[in-house]
Amino acid sequence: RINAAITTVGHFLPDERLTNADLEKMVDTSDEWIRTRTGIRERRILRDEDKATSDMAAGAAKEILEKRGIGPEEIDAIIVATVTPDMLFPATACLVQNKIGATNAWGFDLSAACSGFLFALTTGSQLIESGRYEKVMVIGADKMSSIVDYTDRTTCILFGDGAAGVLLEPSEEHGLVDAVQHVDGEHGDLLCMKGGGSLNPPTHQTVDAKMHYIHQDGRPVFRHAVTAMADVCVEVMERNDLTGDDVDFLVPHQANLRIIDATAKRMGLTSDKVMINIDRYGNTTAATIPLCLYDWEDELSKGDNIVLTAFGGGFTWGATYLTW
Ligand code: ACO
Repeated sequence: RINAAITTVGHFLPDERLTNADLEKMVDTSDEWIRTRTGIRERRILRDEDKATSDMAAGAAKEILEKRGIGPEEIDAIIVATVTPDMLFPATACLVQNKIGATNAWGFDLSAACSGFLFALTTGSQLIESGRYEKVMVIGADKMSSIVDYTDRTTCILFGDGAAGVLLEPSEEHGLVDAVQHVDGEHGDLLCMKGGGSLNPPTHQTVDAKMHYIHQDGRPVFRHAVTAMADVCVEVMERNDLTGDDVDFLVPHQANLRIIDATAKRMGLTSDKVMINIDRYGNTTAATIPLCLYDWEDELSKGDNIVLTAFGGGFTWGATYLTW
């Protein structure tokens, strides 16, 4: 069996920081409320003049090439997970392909909100496992600031911009072992962007009605997320005979510290095994999981058992078990 292993991690974060103190000046909120309810202290913002999602994704891709010491023409495929593509089409993956000069790559975008990176990782792994491809880039990138209403205190405090990704390559020893994934469209309206698509094409009316901003009904989303994320992690652990002691690291989607803590507790993990950087970046949607891998890369050892998990709009959720 050919395994798909993560051999390199790259990232891109905009320089500009939006702190809780900044948000206190923009909406009726407080640093204390944001920290205690979400765990977030600051997020990064990509200003429009610095361009768009594909620029951040290309930044992460270039870092991957540099760290791995390979040329862009060696990349076989690029999958970009995002809900904030530069345009509805062409796909952001095509823009990234051009920006990095990956002349032999094909690729596509994958839309699964906060679970986008996990679903893309499974998809990319299967390209490697098929034996047909040897270098597949999987990137999570979102410019959430482009769809956030900075007068809505219930959402604008949550999200940030960023990109990160991995290179998947064949391995005989390590790689993705198992993945459990779910969608449930019944609750799609609790977390969505209603405008801009074929249902509500852009008009003055849809813009005036703020339909081009993210809409979230936070409380029910929280209730679903906290149960679903823990359940799917337990499911993947049981399928692979893992106890909390066997898991070296949990890489959770960074939406809310309370959801992360509840998941780690259900899995029987001590806090030192849980990757958390929500305090610095907020929720960067498809980028949170690879951004954690990037930040913790130096602490990971060959053979570590790692569980990745996410929950997001759709609803979409899943857990992936891999050995590093
Ligand atoms: N500052 C101060 N007060 C606020 C703020 C704010 N920024 N936002 C809301 N409040 C108020 C509310 O108005 C409410 O006041 P009320 O009691 O007078 O009505 C009170 O605080 C409590 O509001 P809740 O919505 O119940 O707060 P909650 O504890 O649920 O926290 C949050 C809100 C952080 C959004 C939480 O619900 C959450 O994390 N939800 C899940 C997010 C998630 O996982 N999303 C999925 C991934 S994202 C994706 O896929 C793109």
